[in-house]
Amino acid sequence: MAHEKSAVLLKAKLGKAMSINNIVILTGAGISAESGLSTFRDNDGLWEKHRVEDVATPEAFKRDPELVYRFYNMRRQALKDVSPNPAHTALAKLEKIHNGSVTIVTQNVDNLHEQAGSEAVIHMHGELNKGRCTGCSGVFAWHLDMDETTPCPTCEQSGGLRPHIVWFGEMPLFMAEIDSILSEADLFMSIGTSGNVYPAADFVAQINALGRAKTVELNLEPSEGNHMFEESHFGPAAKLVPSYVESILKGEAL
Ligand code: APR
Repeated sequence: MAHEKSAVLLKAKLGKAMSINNIVILTGAGISAESGLSTFRDNDGLWEKHRVEDVATPEAFKRDPELVYRFYNMRRQALKDVSPNPAHTALAKLEKIHNGSVTIVTQNVDNLHEQAGSEAVIHMHGELNKGRCTGCSGVFAWHLDMDETTPCPTCEQSGGLRPHIVWFGEMPLFMAEIDSILSEADLFMSIGTSGNVYPAADFVAQINALGRAKTVELNLEPSEGNHMFEESHFGPAAKLVPSYVESILKGEAL
């Protein structure tokens, strides 16, 4: 029973989808907090211990590459000790069982969605487990530390390797694909993000302008853009997400 594909019916609303076919889920650091990864802006978050302008901008990388490499080497290493929590697992289950599309657009650079079994995952801010070469533009899987002397596995030149991370001031990845997925959403869920960083913080407004999808926020506390969501639930993701996913699968997410 639990593994039957389920079509989900939505209450008829003027101008809105009558059934949930396409589900788009935006995730942020809050979904990985209970797995043991720090968020950015909470008390004790990464941006309290490190200044953004020292470790997460192209200028910082030019000025002090060693510090920037160290920051991402530390975060890449931290991935080795963590596993998905029930929120990641519930989203993977939703993708398998829902009789329609389920796409996760994540701001997270960890790999916990993939570890949980999600397949349609778009990493708009890059991935810790990938590297990029500024020389040959190659992007490749990368699980070790890197520094200025590390040769690129593709062109074999040293000095051009960088974390495959979108830094402040850089363009997020896959934006055309994301715009197209958002435009076809019937249900948009935002999970564990503070809504401070654009363009992700704008997705809910973009969706609302189309008047087609139901919008739901699941977060520990109201995000910056909470007033733009049709429905919200507050609490820890590992508790909220599995129960919301069950309500979708039972056709009760009205
Ligand atoms: N369950 C649900 N939500 C949680 C939990 C939890 N256990 N713990 C924290 N949160 C919420 C916080 O209340 C906060 O609203 O998650 C949100 C985390 O916000 P941020 O730290 O700002 O993280 P995020 O929104 O992902 O940041 C966006 O900013 O610095 C950049 O590139 C970085 O991708 C990141 C982007």
